[in-house]
Amino acid sequence: MITGVVLGAGIGKRMHSKVPKVLHKICGREMIFYAIDSVKDIVDSVVVVINESMSKELFEGFEVRVQKTPLGTGDALKVALTGIDTDLVLVTTGDNPLFEKEDILKFYNFFKETNSDISFISAEADDPTNLGRVLRSGDEFVKIVEEADATEEEKAIKEINTGVYLFKFSLLSKILEELSNNNAQGEYYLTDTLTIAKDKGYKVTVYKLPKKLPIYGVNNRFELSIAEKIIQEKILKKHMLNGVTIHNPETQKIDYFVEIENDTEILPGCVLEGKTKIESDCVVGPFAQIIDSHISKGSIVKQSIVMNSYVGENCSIGPFAYVRPENILVRNVKIGTFVEVKKSKFDEGAKVPHLSYIGDATVGKNVNIGAGTITCNFSGLEGNKKNPTLIEDDVFIGSHSTLVAPLVIRKGAYTAAGSVITQEVPEDSLAIARAQQVNKIGWVKRRKGQNG
Ligand code: UD1
Ligand code: CA
Repeated sequence: MITGVVLGAGIGKRMHSKVPKVLHKICGREMIFYAIDSVKDIVDSVVVVINESMSKELFEGFEVRVQKTPLGTGDALKVALTGIDTDLVLVTTGDNPLFEKEDILKFYNFFKETNSDISFISAEADDPTNLGRVLRSGDEFVKIVEEADATEEEKAIKEINTGVYLFKFSLLSKILEELSNNNAQGEYYLTDTLTIAKDKGYKVTVYKLPKKLPIYGVNNRFELSIAEKIIQEKILKKHMLNGVTIHNPETQKIDYFVEIENDTEILPGCVLEGKTKIESDCVVGPFAQIIDSHISKGSIVKQSIVMNSYVGENCSIGPFAYVRPENILVRNVKIGTFVEVKKSKFDEGAKVPHLSYIGDATVGKNVNIGAGTITCNFSGLEGNKKNPTLIEDDVFIGSHSTLVAPLVIRKGAYTAAGSVITQEVPEDSLAIARAQQVNKIGWVKRRKGQNG
């Protein structure tokens, strides 16, 4: 039996953040989950070590252990293994999001083939600063020295510890008791277990990663951005291989949980976030931000923001539309230029082509809302209460109508342009609510005559 351990209790001082390091997001997902992914299919169960400020609920399906004080990686491993019985322990750190399952599988095979008692993954780093250096005598492993404890000579070593280890549990459980915090940082170093085991005559081996990664561990926001760039590339590639056309991929931010179906085209500069799903044959962008929304087959979203909304088939949004949360666009709906909509339902064929605000409204089939229409949904009298507007099927709202809610406009009715509608409009009628036009004949000439 193999138990996976993911260490994530450290505070991550170098992030300068209120948020614990391993909960910083990479492509919309906490970085620790990429580390969990790299081990979870290889092991029988995963133990995640977190600190007291982190919520256990986030780690549903995994065993969670809380390290009360961050006394070091060695102490964190001790906390992880309390009360655990297993054959092998596979350890990675929660700030190690770039390892792939395949890398770790090869390491596991190496461990078995070499019949090791303990092993870890090393790598050649272009810049080894801040990482544990691997000291060898000839080819043989001697120990790992942390930056804070290293001599100038040791700091020049480029082979580093990546923070991924395999242990025989029977041996590890004893050695962990022997760790001391007698070092520059006053921490219990997990890495010291290797030296202790080696001194006792156990077989400690090093698996040198056959490839180079741009960073080994995310300790600051610069490294966070490097990790995000690489994970973003992987996400984009996955979509492209699934049949999505993505233009100028370097300009896109498409988060981990976003789903996109084939033959959809993503034009430059999009931000697709949260649990967004985009069905096939859509055109998204340029410059669209879509958050937690569903965009159905054949729809278009250009230069617009769509938040937490459902967009049915063949809808058209934008350019420059702001679709705020909780809208439902049933099918063939148009939300056009400089239109803001909120918490409204637009039935099949409804159109709001230009310059309008529609909030808390139910809009029927084939309704046409003229430019400059405003639903006055906010009474301002009862706290934050918003009043509803009901516009039934086939209604025509004239340009620049002001719809003072609560309001009902019955089926097939018209409102005249520039009207302020305050009362229910009956079926198939025209509501005109504006001052009658008066033409003062010859007025201009008279005025000019007086002044001249
Ligand atoms: C660690 C290794 C270093 C290696 C590097 C690779 C040690 C002593 N050093 O250094 O050799 O090159 O990783 O990335 O192990 N954590 C806890 N509890 C603690 C302290 C840390 O759970 O008390 C967790 C952190 O949340 C983090 C991980 O352990 O996810 C590694 O801790 P970090 O402080 O980043 O270690 P490094 O200094 O990077
Ligand atoms: Ca680290």
